[in-house]
Amino acid sequence: MPMPKTGSGSASGYAVLAEGVVKRYRGRGKGGTEKRALDGFDLAVRPGTVHGLLGPNGAGKTTAVRVLATLLRYDAGRAEVAGLDVGREPRRVRSRIGLTGQYAAVDEGLTGRQNLEMFGRLFHLGNRRARQRAGELLDRFDLTEAADKGAKEYSGGMRRRLDLASSMILQPDVLFLDEPTTGLDPRGRGEVWDAVRALVAGGTTVLLTTQYLDEADRLASHITVIDRGRAIADDTPDALKNRVGGDRIEVVAADAGDLDAVARTVDRVAGGGLVVTDAATRRVHAQVADRVAALTEVARSLQDDAIAVEDIGLRRPSLDDVFLRLTGHGTAPEVEHRAAEHQDPGRRDPESHDTENHDSAEVAAA
Ligand SMILES: Nc1ncnc2c1ncn2[C@@H]1O[C@H](COP(=O)(O)OP(=O)(O)OP(=O)(O)O)[C@@H](O)[C@H]1O
Ligand SMILES: [Mg+2]
Repeated sequence: MPMPKTGSGSASGYAVLAEGVVKRYRGRGKGGTEKRALDGFDLAVRPGTVHGLLGPNGAGKTTAVRVLATLLRYDAGRAEVAGLDVGREPRRVRSRIGLTGQYAAVDEGLTGRQNLEMFGRLFHLGNRRARQRAGELLDRFDLTEAADKGAKEYSGGMRRRLDLASSMILQPDVLFLDEPTTGLDPRGRGEVWDAVRALVAGGTTVLLTTQYLDEADRLASHITVIDRGRAIADDTPDALKNRVGGDRIEVVAADAGDLDAVARTVDRVAGGGLVVTDAATRRVHAQVADRVAALTEVARSLQDDAIAVEDIGLRRPSLDDVFLRLTGHGTAPEVEHRAAEHQDPGRRDPESHDTENHDSAEVAAA
C-alpha cells in the first residue's frame, strides 16, 4: 500500500495517520502469552472525509481507534491525529477529537437534553453555553422533539444519535466512530448515516469502524480493510468491490447429498473462480461474470440432471467474500470449521496464500 511521505516533525496533511503501529496486550499472570492486537498497522485519512475501517471481530478496529484517540498507548510505530503526534502530545490531540465507543455512553436516567448539558459542563463550557450547545446539537441530530424525554425511552437509532451529539460537544476536527450502527434496525442505521453525512458536510473528518461492507460503501470515500492487526487493503469502495469481484450466484441444494454435484455445475458455469461450499446451510456460491447467463445456465443444467434446488439466485459480494478473497479466510470462524470437513488439502485456492499462511476457509470445488 503506498504510504505518504511525511516530513520530519511537520504535519502530514492527513487528518489521521498511522505508520507501522504495534499494540501488544500482555496475557495475565505468569507465562501469559502476548497478543499483537495491532501488528504494523498503517492508515492515512484525508481531511474532510469519512474513512471506513472494515474488519471482522477481533481484527483490531477498537484497538486502532483507542490508540488513535489516546486512550491506549502503543508499543511501536508512529501515529498522528489533526497534525499532532499522538504519543508525544496526547492532551492536545484529545482537545481536537471526539469518540463514540462501541458501547453507548448515554445516561439512561437523564433526558436527551440533560445528557448533552452534562457533557457540556464536563467539558467546562459553563451552564449557559452548555445549554445553548445542547439545543444546537439536539436540533442538528433531529432530536428536538424527544429532547425532554428520558433517554431510556429512546429507540436504538435515537440513542446512537444522542451518543454522536455528545461526542460533538466541542466540534472536533476528527471524530472516531466505533461500530456506530451495530445492533440497529435498518431505519436506525439510516438515521445514523444521515447524521454522519451532516457532520462531514460541516467539515469534520470521520474514522468509522464497521463490520458491514454496505455501511462503509454508503458512507466512506475510502476504506481500509484490517485483519489480524494489519491493513490488508486500502482503496475506494468501488475498487475494493471490483477486486472482490462482481455478483455471485448462490444455490441452496434441497438435499445435502447433492452438494458436490451442485458445486461441479456452478464451477463449470462460473468458470475458474473459487467455488465456496457451506455444508451446514447446503449452500454453494461463486463469482460470475455474466449474471443472467450464469443464472439461466445453472438452473437449466441442474434441472437436466434432476438435482432438486431449494433456492437459487444472484447476490452482491458480502464482507465475507471480501475477506475470503483478500485473506483466504472468512469472517465467521464456524464456517471454516464446517468447510474443513470437506477440504481437499491438495486443492487450495492459490490466492488464499498471498498474505499469510491462514487456513483456507472454504472448499474449492473439484
Ligand atoms: N484488553 C485486552 N487484553 C488482551 N487482549 C485484548 C484486549 N482487548 C482486545 N484484545 C484482543 O485484541 C484483538 C483485537 O481486539 P479489538 O477489540 O481491537 O477488535 P475489533 O476489531 O474491535 O473486534 P470487534 O469487531 O469484536 O469489536 C482481539 O484478539 C482481542 O481479543
Ligand atoms: Mg471493536
